[in-house]
Amino acid sequence: MYRKDTSYLTATHADIATAAGLLRAGALVAFPTETVYGLGGDARNDKAVAGIYEAKGRPSFNPLIAHVASIEAAKRYVVWTDEADRLAQAFWPGPLTLVLPLRPDHDISPLVTAGLDTLAVRVPAHETARALLSAFDGPVAAPSANPSGRISPTTAGHVHAGLDGRIAAVLDDGPCGVGLESTIIGLKGTPTLLRPGGLSADLVEACLGQMIGTYKQGDALSAPGQLLSHYAPDSSVRLNVETPMGDEVLLGFGPVECDLNLSLSGDMTEAAANLFSALHQLDATGRPIAISPIPEKGLGLAINDRLRRAAAPRGA
Ligand code: TXA
Ligand code: MG
Repeated sequence: MYRKDTSYLTATHADIATAAGLLRAGALVAFPTETVYGLGGDARNDKAVAGIYEAKGRPSFNPLIAHVASIEAAKRYVVWTDEADRLAQAFWPGPLTLVLPLRPDHDISPLVTAGLDTLAVRVPAHETARALLSAFDGPVAAPSANPSGRISPTTAGHVHAGLDGRIAAVLDDGPCGVGLESTIIGLKGTPTLLRPGGLSADLVEACLGQMIGTYKQGDALSAPGQLLSHYAPDSSVRLNVETPMGDEVLLGFGPVECDLNLSLSGDMTEAAANLFSALHQLDATGRPIAISPIPEKGLGLAINDRLRRAAAPRGA
């Protein structure tokens, strides 16, 4: 099923060692994390990082997250603060990314940060991601493993459909448990929510003991990834729909009559885990997609953020 130039690896010790070897050689490897599949390359290698942008067709001003194995590893690249320590102790490994000032002595490729003086760092929780990071023993730059602007991948099959032939290997370890990208917190100034994600912002606020500001569309491009149209299926997307019209397929939430349900019981965690797979599946029908209302609380904030972007008018 995979073209011969994208090899298919599994989560065995031998295959993880192969994947680490490919990263060391500057090649690109897609790998599972608890949030979504990442498209990994050596964060210190300009050529590897340039290859990530090229494989995704990603605008070069949109910086990448460096994945590391531990808090200690993160401290080698960024200026550590008390707030970073509180959040990292509480939520790493896990679906949380911290944006912190780069250390002057770092060896991260400037292509990772797209020229910013900050770096986004994350310690993922997924066992296979952790095994890969330890085997590689270095920082791995990894955006979500999808063509830029399209639906994020939560299975190796999604990665294959979007990037086959453009990357060296896909490491398959089944579907991602969280299903939404990490929550991104900016810690350069006062703590700011740069992207809602798989860790509810309420938990971040509780941990810091303070409310956190939210990045808003139209603010200076402090979070360059916040382009409005994103996560876009080929089909059109209509939100907050109670009754589908015409040929629409309805993606439901809660006890509603629909073509596919994110969570019959209205469970946000389950809905998050199913979201991108459901969008991939409904997109394949070629019919317009309608989506039930989803409450704007907890993980619902991150789900609705992704859905608004999926429904936004498409840019060039
Ligand atoms: O869960 C995740 O975060 C996944 C997995 C693979 O770890 N990765 C992911 O990466 O979602 P990506 O590239 O699709 O999104 C990274 C986001 C972008 O919106 C980017 O603009 C933002 O992080 N970002 C990266 N570095 C930044 C920085 N220095 N300052 C502000 N935003 C930054
Ligand atoms: Mg992405």
